[in-house]
Amino acid sequence: MFRKIAISAVSALVLGAGSAMAAGAEGHIEDVAFSFEGPFGTYDEHQLQRGLQVYTEVCSACHGLKFVPIRTLGDAGGPNLPADQVRAYAAEMDIFDAELDDDRPRKPTDHFPKSGDLNAPDLSLMAKARAGFHGPAGTGINQFVKGIGGPEYIYSILTGYTGEEKEEAGTTFYENKAFPGGWIAMAPPLFEDQMEYEDGHDNSIHSVAQDMSAFLMWTAEPKMMARKQAGFTAVIFLTILSVLLYLTNKRIWSAVKGPKKKHA
Ligand code: HEC
Repeated sequence: MFRKIAISAVSALVLGAGSAMAAGAEGHIEDVAFSFEGPFGTYDEHQLQRGLQVYTEVCSACHGLKFVPIRTLGDAGGPNLPADQVRAYAAEMDIFDAELDDDRPRKPTDHFPKSGDLNAPDLSLMAKARAGFHGPAGTGINQFVKGIGGPEYIYSILTGYTGEEKEEAGTTFYENKAFPGGWIAMAPPLFEDQMEYEDGHDNSIHSVAQDMSAFLMWTAEPKMMARKQAGFTAVIFLTILSVLLYLTNKRIWSAVKGPKKKHA
């Protein structure tokens, strides 16, 4: 018995030290106050629409979103695009149709394409696949307060380039403060004044990176609004139920317990 405890204590120490070391190699993550944070937070549909524009004009050259059905761009609580715009957006991308044995324009029921650049990971679930906050010492306790930090991680990658680059085995790496290890094989995708937003919204790198990260949070968690709403309904329902049960209980037992007597 003692041996078992000793072994688990030692292994816990070793594992703990390992994750603490891993935390040391993590990059620097900026905390961003996104509109969807907290129990009352919601996606800002205009921000998601701007993020879609950034994805379409910049990131889609390399990255796919193969798990995202194009029709969901019309979802309320998401980008909420009108149906005709969703159809027009879909039609701009081709897909190979085995039945036709030829390419045809995509329909809203099709998904976004997969990554065109094989080295570029699919971004559909990236905001949930990465954690921005690990501390203290790799325990992840900060996540209770700040959230897991996926969108913050993406934001920090997009804004974390230092401008340094190096070449190794024929690949160029770019120094990035947020990327674990410090060097990423993705050239800085964003630069100042590159985006032209129709609504005239701030197009500084920081603002564009926030729009992009919010959009990727939505692709990874498209039902967040519905989930929060169901949570509220459940809490309100349970509160009312508790009050009713309390009163019922009082009433049922009142005959036995009788009115409160004063103890002398
Ligand atoms: C020229 C191609 C190219 C473009 C354009 C591009 N990326 Fe990348 N991206 C890559 C490659 C290649 C990697 C893999 C880098 C690595 O693992 O070192 C990558 C990796 C990433 C990662 C993953 C980092 C990780 O933790 O694994 C994210 C997030 C990302 N890109 C987001 C974006 C966003 C957002 C845009 C658009 C604003 C974008 N990328 C535009 C090529 C590109």
